[in-house]
Amino acid sequence: MSTEPVADWAEDFEIFDEAFVKDPYPIWKDLRDQGCPFARTERRQVSFMPTTYAGVREIAADTEHWSSFSVSVTPTVPSYDDAGNRLRSIISSDAPEHTPERRLMLPFFAPKAVEKYREHTQELCRRLIREFIEDGRADFAEDYARQIPPRIIALILGIEPEMSDEFTTWVQGVLELGLQDEAVREHYSEIIRNFFVEEIKKRQENPGDDLISFLLQAEIDGEPVPLPVVRGNVGLMLIAGIDTTWSSIGSALWHLAHHPEDRKRLVDEPELIPTAVEEFLRAYSPVTMARVATKDTMLGDRPVKAGERVVLTFPAANRDPEVFESPEEVIIDRQKNRHIAFGSGIHRCAGSNLARMEMQVAIEEMLKMIPEFELEDPDAVTWAGGQVRGPRNLPVTFPNRTTI
Ligand code: HEM
Repeated sequence: MSTEPVADWAEDFEIFDEAFVKDPYPIWKDLRDQGCPFARTERRQVSFMPTTYAGVREIAADTEHWSSFSVSVTPTVPSYDDAGNRLRSIISSDAPEHTPERRLMLPFFAPKAVEKYREHTQELCRRLIREFIEDGRADFAEDYARQIPPRIIALILGIEPEMSDEFTTWVQGVLELGLQDEAVREHYSEIIRNFFVEEIKKRQENPGDDLISFLLQAEIDGEPVPLPVVRGNVGLMLIAGIDTTWSSIGSALWHLAHHPEDRKRLVDEPELIPTAVEEFLRAYSPVTMARVATKDTMLGDRPVKAGERVVLTFPAANRDPEVFESPEEVIIDRQKNRHIAFGSGIHRCAGSNLARMEMQVAIEEMLKMIPEFELEDPDAVTWAGGQVRGPRNLPVTFPNRTTI
């Protein structure tokens, strides 16, 4: 969707601007260099955009003035069930409800719990690579990165992996296409809601050891978790876990496809992959969230009125030279890396261990089976932006593949 061109990024920013979606980093750098810690816009609704690490962290920590009631980067309508109850998930809840509901879900994503899925993820990655390795080319975003997260989430939710393609289409409908078209967003949100109504019914009749069954049996303060909260949180697993991880795997492979020195180093020193993953997360952080002001406040010297929105640009924070040395450079063995790609404060990503494991395995298996690859045509790479940024088409060639 085309947008009005931007003449002044400090006073009239536009997150869907084509150049910004493709490469937002020079724009954030210019804003910081101009001494603009908080940009402002009146497009869609008055919104603010921090450009520094300190600014992003300050807002994420300030739950007195900023609510997670609406975390979409564009104003959207919340979801309700047929009885009029808001379908609330932890990502769109504030304290005090947020705290016990989050605590309930964390054990499912603890390091040990996530390790159970590593072997399965390795096998999945190898199987995906085998499907295209003989062709000498593939779209690493479509044929690989996109295929991994929905299949792992399906496993956690106890759902057939065959549903994965549908999951990805629904999530793209909500998080990409739907961001600028409420009807599209509602269409896909409704599909997800209806899908989980049926899945919940199945688990009520026949519980398993999956996350849906667990939430249905769990209690908070001796009371069952309210059904709209169960529905909101199982739906959140798709929304939070698919586009995000797909984008991160894609960005890492995009980087390796045009930085042969980094690719060769990771082939020779695979033990560096976990450190490199942290650097890819820092340099190409996919997720931007939002908050809505609950009362009048200030951002630097800019007054903010209750109801106005801020986009929480974790990716901008991670390129701040006040915190990261040579922030525009990707240094795959960077030692000091306190990035906030997974957020900061009470809503910090609950699935970060799972995301890290998927990224590590996806890169490891790719470099083992296809140690040499390059971009087929740099101009053919396309990017999604807005809430979740990452490559959506990533054509690569690999004449010298290794078949395992
Ligand atoms: C590389 C991949 C990922 C990135 C970069 C990422 C990033 C984030 C960020 C920035 C937040 C903070 C939201 C806020 O402050 O409003 C968040 C929250 C969350 N993420 Fe992730 N995420 C990723 C993968 C996953 C996965 C795989 C799952 C699980 C299936 C997941 C589940 C969640 C949940 C449940 C929350 C809400 C936590 C809360 O509100 O307390 N994420 N994520």
